[in-house]
Amino acid sequence: MRRLLVAGAALALILLIAVALISTGLVGGGAVGATIREVFTGSAGRGGAATRPGGASAHSWTDAERGLIASLSIDRLPPLPPDPSNAVGDSPDAVALGHALFFDSGLSPDGSVACSTCHQPDRYFTDGKVLANVRDVDTPRHTPTIVGIAYSDWFYWDGRKDSQWAQALAPQEAAIEHGGTRTAHARYVLSRYSSEYEAVFGPAPDLSDTLRFPAEAAPVEDETALAAWVAMSEADRGAINRVFANIGKSIAAYSRRILPGRSRFDDYAAAALANDGTRMSELFSPQEAEGLRLFFGDGQCTDCHNGPLFTNGSFHNVGLPLPEGSKFDQGRSLGTLQVVEDVFNCLGKYSDADEEACVELRFIKIEGEELIGAFKVPGLRNVAETAPYMHNGTFADLDAVIRHYNHAPPAFPGHSDLVPLAFTEEQSAALIAFLLTLSAPADAPPELLLPPEGSE
Ligand code: HEC
Ligand code: HEC
Repeated sequence: MRRLLVAGAALALILLIAVALISTGLVGGGAVGATIREVFTGSAGRGGAATRPGGASAHSWTDAERGLIASLSIDRLPPLPPDPSNAVGDSPDAVALGHALFFDSGLSPDGSVACSTCHQPDRYFTDGKVLANVRDVDTPRHTPTIVGIAYSDWFYWDGRKDSQWAQALAPQEAAIEHGGTRTAHARYVLSRYSSEYEAVFGPAPDLSDTLRFPAEAAPVEDETALAAWVAMSEADRGAINRVFANIGKSIAAYSRRILPGRSRFDDYAAAALANDGTRMSELFSPQEAEGLRLFFGDGQCTDCHNGPLFTNGSFHNVGLPLPEGSKFDQGRSLGTLQVVEDVFNCLGKYSDADEEACVELRFIKIEGEELIGAFKVPGLRNVAETAPYMHNGTFADLDAVIRHYNHAPPAFPGHSDLVPLAFTEEQSAALIAFLLTLSAPADAPPELLLPPEGSE
């Protein structure tokens, strides 16, 4: 009993402190919380402020501002940590196999679709379309880039996958993407890439018995393929799942190598940190510097787009307009339910991770109003090159994005985490000018940005 009382008192104290912090604005409660800027600089207020006059003052930063700028620099990006769920994630042989598979349209029944059909290297691994579309059918969402995505905890706009290898399995069976089945893909990879596969994963199972391993079997919507899958023995399904997971692990080993490169902004950040005014004004126009100031200042973009990849890795509802004829997209509130059920998740038997390593999944927040209509905060590196924008591709260009942030209409259903910025034309233009400084060629061995030699 005494223990309970002490615990109760401690809880009350924690609650009191939390309330005090939130009301003083030290801990963010979404839109009402303090911004990083307020904590760092002690200033508040949003929008309306006049853009500074150009010239040298555009490049004068306080120590706190320099710290914030440096926090966005690629120099602060830590080396990519290993993915404990993928034992071959950093194996060169797996990279080579994954490289071949990423570009191989043999992983689709009609030979027309590869990962690279939608994630095109010369478009920063996007496709330039509003919604991904193959065989003249739209998918419900817009194709995001995969550059630097290996740093994410969650994959897809709704985070319904918790590793890059588990993610790489889904499009292979989605009817509106590759449209294949796992038995067909396992058989294809083991016949075309048998020595490459065995070099990475050891002896491959013998799938020659088509009674045990039907040509097309998978837990998918297609009834014939589903019936064939259900009719297989559990052990045989396990053998197929293992090969399928390994296909994903090699594709992930390849994709992990595609990292963002050093942009003009990163050089500017280094100059700002060194307080080198001459170098700063060589690198950025006064307008671009002003855009940067607005980005972490009055724009409060760093509430969500922070760190060297310009994302907090979290999910937010930004109250996007619903394009005519489209259904409301639940976003994260369904993604959480799907990832905990996924046999290929971090805690599943095809994962190479110890349970303790699956921190994100073990402590996932499954429900909550803030998850409704919330989507993953995309990184902003190379954003100028990857139009159109948002999970539904609803904005054609950066002007349209900033117009949205300026108005920030309420969301329905769910609630928007944005507050209208009401920036002037000049401020909006400066913000966009800054975003354009984030472009740089991907940092990857050049041969990985092309189909592998000898592939057709
Ligand atoms: C038909 C076009 C298409 C094909 C083919 C395709 N993708 Fe995608 N990819 C998308 C779309 C659209 C999304 C976002 C879907 C969503 O969030 O529901 C996506 C999301 C992703 C993501 C998550 C990125 C993030 O921000 O979380 C990765 C990684 C990825 N794809 C890799 C692959 C790989 C690997 C393949 C091949 C096995 C592949 N994709 C095949 C269109 C495609
Ligand atoms: C409350 C969090 C939050 C804030 C604050 C925020 N963003 Fe975003 N941003 C997001 C989310 C979430 C998305 C994706 C939304 C979706 O697709 O539904 C996004 C998408 C974007 C995109 C599109 C990127 C792409 O690849 O599709 C751009 C550009 C962008 N934001 C810029 C900004 C700028 C500039 C600011 C400051 C004015 C800002 N954001 C403030 C959360 C935020």
